[in-house]
Amino acid sequence: MSDYVSVNRAFWDELAERHVESEFYATARFRTGENILDSLVRERIGNVAGKRLLHLQCHFGLDTLSLARMGADVTGLDFSPVAIEAARTLSRDCNVPAAFVQSDVLKAPEDLTGFDIVFASWGAIPWIGDMTRWMQVAAHALKPGGRLFLAEGHPMMATIDEMVPADAPFRIRYDYGSRTPLELENQQDYAGPGVLKAHRNVQFLHGMATILNAAISAGLSIVRIEELDRIPWQALPQLVEADSEYWKLSDGAPQIPLALVLDAIKK
Ligand SMILES: C[S@@+](CC[C@H](N)C(=O)[O-])C[C@H]1O[C@@H](n2cnc3c(N)ncnc32)[C@H](O)[C@@H]1O
Repeated sequence: MSDYVSVNRAFWDELAERHVESEFYATARFRTGENILDSLVRERIGNVAGKRLLHLQCHFGLDTLSLARMGADVTGLDFSPVAIEAARTLSRDCNVPAAFVQSDVLKAPEDLTGFDIVFASWGAIPWIGDMTRWMQVAAHALKPGGRLFLAEGHPMMATIDEMVPADAPFRIRYDYGSRTPLELENQQDYAGPGVLKAHRNVQFLHGMATILNAAISAGLSIVRIEELDRIPWQALPQLVEADSEYWKLSDGAPQIPLALVLDAIKK
């Protein structure tokens, strides 16, 4: 695995193209004027009106532009040129102003700084080989007193075998917080059927201590960490629909945290 970023960029370029008009992503609803930021994130992020907000790993900008509709002055960053082009098109088409920057997040331009909020959510950090560097980028982007908001799949959930039937008991398949990258083959599009040309990717299963210590060492003060019993996609076959937005473990099944929300402030 000499260059995991190139492998992952090819994977995400193809996914971005497929995702823009997919049903999984609510682009059609966004085009009608709806804010499609999921309610759990919307409640916790609170009032963003008038805030300068940097969205790390913004994909094709749907959440970024929803945050803009909530009044934030937004910049989205992603390493996929396909995703960034689609984000700019969506911004123009919907008349929602936003800036988009194409860059590897770990090599983000130095002048991305002075933000009130750095935001990342749902499937951002599994692609990051160096959590310390990622938190340093977030801390550098924030002005003093600025806020990092991260909503993410839980590291405990990420250890569980996802390739089993829905009625199978949990089985731990992956090492918790492993430092060894997971080189995955035959990867499917989580947002829909069809065979991917770019079917390889490389992921990292950061543990809670790695995530929190990376934030602390980058000069961020942790204000709140939450562990949640729901997640906005069917991350494991055993999950059932909690409501129209989230998936959860069925009542009576042993419960593990499915998601985390981290709120931190730059000192
Ligand atoms: C699951 S998506 C982002 C989640 C977002 N909440 C969404 O669904 O719209 C992960 C994103 O990370 C981006 N990404 C992965 N590795 C990256 C890197 N090294 N630098 C910048 N972006 C990266 C991918 O292009 C993709 O858009």
